[in-house]
Amino acid sequence: MSTTKIIRIAEASQHVDEIVTIQGWLYNHRSSGKIRFLELRDGSTGTIQAVVAPGNCDEASFQASSELTQESSLIVTGKVKKHPKKDGVFELDVTHLTLVQKAEINYPISHKEHGPEFLMQNRHLWLRTPRQTAIMRVRASIIKSIRDFFDSRDFVLMDAPILTPSACEGTSTLFETEYFDETAYLTQSGQLYGEVGAFALGKTYVFGPTFRAEKSKTRKHLTEFWMVEPEIAFWDIDQNMDLGESLVTQIMKDILARNQAELKILGRDTAKLQAIAEGGFPRVSYDECIKMLNENGHPFPWGEDFGAPEETKIGDLFGGRPVFIHRFPKQIKSFYFKVDDKDDRLALGCDLIAPEGYGELIGGGIREENYETLKAAIKTHGLKEEDYNWYLDLRRYGSVPHGGFGLGLERTVSWVCGLDHVRETIAFPRLLNYLRP
Ligand code: 4AD
Ligand code: MG
Repeated sequence: MSTTKIIRIAEASQHVDEIVTIQGWLYNHRSSGKIRFLELRDGSTGTIQAVVAPGNCDEASFQASSELTQESSLIVTGKVKKHPKKDGVFELDVTHLTLVQKAEINYPISHKEHGPEFLMQNRHLWLRTPRQTAIMRVRASIIKSIRDFFDSRDFVLMDAPILTPSACEGTSTLFETEYFDETAYLTQSGQLYGEVGAFALGKTYVFGPTFRAEKSKTRKHLTEFWMVEPEIAFWDIDQNMDLGESLVTQIMKDILARNQAELKILGRDTAKLQAIAEGGFPRVSYDECIKMLNENGHPFPWGEDFGAPEETKIGDLFGGRPVFIHRFPKQIKSFYFKVDDKDDRLALGCDLIAPEGYGELIGGGIREENYETLKAAIKTHGLKEEDYNWYLDLRRYGSVPHGGFGLGLERTVSWVCGLDHVRETIAFPRLLNYLRP
């Protein structure tokens, strides 16, 4: 075993001309004459080329380097050098190499192109590639950003249960499971419990996995996804949109400050993200939005929910900025929405639509605070009042105007990273036809 300092590849620039040790895996390799060029990865961002030349390292190390197969695990010691021609690139002149485990030949993920089906089956190995690790890092960074945002604004994290007795977002996408003698459902949203939190703590947020039995295959829908859901007492729809905009701009600022290396690996156009960080998201009512669609070559009837083509068109109409749409026809919204005092056709919802076709990032609004009105809405939506007695209690004991929203984590990751499909945004995506690995 080497006694030199163990560094991570991403720190190589800080150790030029020092002898260091790197522990990792063989990502790729080639030879030129007697010299072997090993491309190593160690889980930090980027790879490093380790140069194994017969004169520089001991005989056993040189021999070991000739046996390496892709993804073999190894420990190498050597001197960090600046690349002679490429600025910002570093190499390792190997003096010693220890093979930890020689990987079986035919590692499934080679350096040629693979189809999504194959990659999904090998997700446990696919996750080792630079692109996937970059995405995982951005995801973790976004989670940190979200938590810092709420924690620093005095919101208290109060998580909601995963096993629930009733629906939040309609009964058509519920996953049912036996719960002893009863039926339980995997939560679709922590919101109803978040409302309890708002009445207990004033400002709260729920952040966890949520589930929807989405039976369609799209680029934006998972059956298991993460949502952050702030909920606030004494709150109106404008404050709700202000908060959503602040959250999204803060996420952009943090990612631009922390994750340039990952965004570069992903080939993301950071100028687009920079513009988002400046804020100033337009806000239009559903009515205005319908008018704009109809006037701009995209006929759409009043009263229906927007689909992917409308979301893309809306993004384009607003020049690549996220846009808040508010005050939706109440028939397309869930039972808990407060109806607009000024127009009883409308529910006080506000959704944030991302640019570039990434779709709805935020769904939220103001909740009905009146006991009788809410009770009637539960009935109209065909839900059982007894399942919501506890929720109705909030309207019986000190009810106040309140609201919040849910930001979809995977949609956010997809947009920030500029991905084609939400399947790459979570380590083990759950989709209609994917439950494994
Ligand atoms: O608009 P949704 O359904 O809103 C709610 O669930 C509210 N109860 C939230 C609240 O007010 N506390 O979902 C919120 C967000 C969407 O805008 C989207 O970003 C994401 O969750 N989302 C999904 N993400 C991935 N896959 C799915 N199947 C998703 N469904 C919703
Ligand atoms: Mg929605």
